[in-house]
Amino acid sequence: MKIFIISNRLPVKAVKTESDNFEFIRSEGGVATGLSSLEMPMEKHWIGWPGVYAENDAEKETIIAHLRPHNYHPVFLSPNQIQNFYEGYSNSTLWPLCHYFFTYIEYENKYWESYKEVNKLFCEVAIPLIEPGDIVWVQDYHLMLLPQMLRHTVEGISIGYFHHIPFPSYELFRVLPERAELLNGLLGADLIGFHTHDYMRHFVSAAERVLDLRFKLDQVLLDNRMVYVDAFPMGINYSLYHDAILKREVQQKAVELKKSYGTHKLILSVDRLDYSKGILHRLRGFDLFLEKHPEYKEKVSLAMIIVPSRGKVDRYAGLKTKIDETIGAINGKYSTINWRPVYYFYHSFNFEELVAMYHIADIALVTPLRDGMNLVAKEYLAAKRDAPGVLILSEMAGASIELRESIIVNPNDVGEIEQAILRAMEMPEDEQMHKLRLMQKDISTQTVDKWAAGFIQEMNKIRSLNEVLKRK
Ligand code: F6P
Repeated sequence: MKIFIISNRLPVKAVKTESDNFEFIRSEGGVATGLSSLEMPMEKHWIGWPGVYAENDAEKETIIAHLRPHNYHPVFLSPNQIQNFYEGYSNSTLWPLCHYFFTYIEYENKYWESYKEVNKLFCEVAIPLIEPGDIVWVQDYHLMLLPQMLRHTVEGISIGYFHHIPFPSYELFRVLPERAELLNGLLGADLIGFHTHDYMRHFVSAAERVLDLRFKLDQVLLDNRMVYVDAFPMGINYSLYHDAILKREVQQKAVELKKSYGTHKLILSVDRLDYSKGILHRLRGFDLFLEKHPEYKEKVSLAMIIVPSRGKVDRYAGLKTKIDETIGAINGKYSTINWRPVYYFYHSFNFEELVAMYHIADIALVTPLRDGMNLVAKEYLAAKRDAPGVLILSEMAGASIELRESIIVNPNDVGEIEQAILRAMEMPEDEQMHKLRLMQKDISTQTVDKWAAGFIQEMNKIRSLNEVLKRK
């Protein structure tokens, strides 16, 4: 038995170099980072887009040759598909919809056409690889039609789907012209998973109202088979982050960083550049903090790591300009010869640098306006190991349901962010350690491996139940 993970992105992406060769680097984002380190007790394959347009067969061959030894199977997208499927329907229609950015939603028929076409393309790449008895685990909103397509074309496989972003309430989901097709697409799976019970309830309510189905709690009977829905909060590879500081190069990096930031406190924020992350609100919160508490000037800096993302989508490009301006304004207003309030990094950090930053940061400021889960919050807590630290976390992130000992804020209220920073700055070290330990205990048991194992175990259970149902 093999498992096939199918997601829009593979865990590595090909990047074209100036000499027209390819370099292969780790993909960013929760799905790729979280799932790439999964330990599976079966042969694992991954089907996905290698993140680049391959112009001809020779380029495709180069990419395939690099990926094949890892059991990664690329799905090549044309420029038109990248534009209309990835930047279009996935990230200009579904992403704002699921993150409650109602006015950002764009409806274009060509987006939807491309979305259907690319879901079919993923299905076509998968078909020759999959055999009866295999498990297929589809990931995320780019591929909501794929479970049903697979159900109709390949027999005897278990199909799971996990939605990594919020599932919006019915009142919002219903605005989508293609709502029924998407729900039917998902219901091709045997098991549909979400990070939280709220997202799961929203899905059930949308399916009941749009498709006139009647769920019995977490299950519904469809064409002589049961479809199950459940919440599986995703975790991280805890030991990877927790033990990182034991490595010499990470320790060295941490010492260097500490030296360069001086004696003042460090607040850290790490995101992809995305309007759902609340970056501008966060900056305004920090600005307000410095304004209301001048005694902290020259005593604290905010290090903002912003990873470039979806730069061709208008809303993202515009946001970058606003962030640059806001950081410039804050630094212009408060900087002194000896102190810079905001350190701004518009690029990704490698793993060693990132964990060293997590380890030395006194505070992590994680304030998305909406976020399916947010793994940065968990990574920060794990990487602290035995060092004190405070997590300020948005109540709009799925992670806030688990990480109750963090300082929870409403990210829309910059005053609340300002107050939370003050509380974090003044929190006694023993209280920091106490809260940290409680949260570390939870996330060290709810790891990404456990998350995946739980999902697959439930799929196996459903397979047996449905086999009984078929025989009746
Ligand atoms: O679940 C959201 C997600 O698909 C995650 O993989 C990650 O947070 C991000 O979006 C990646 O975005 P993109 O593939 O568009 O760079």
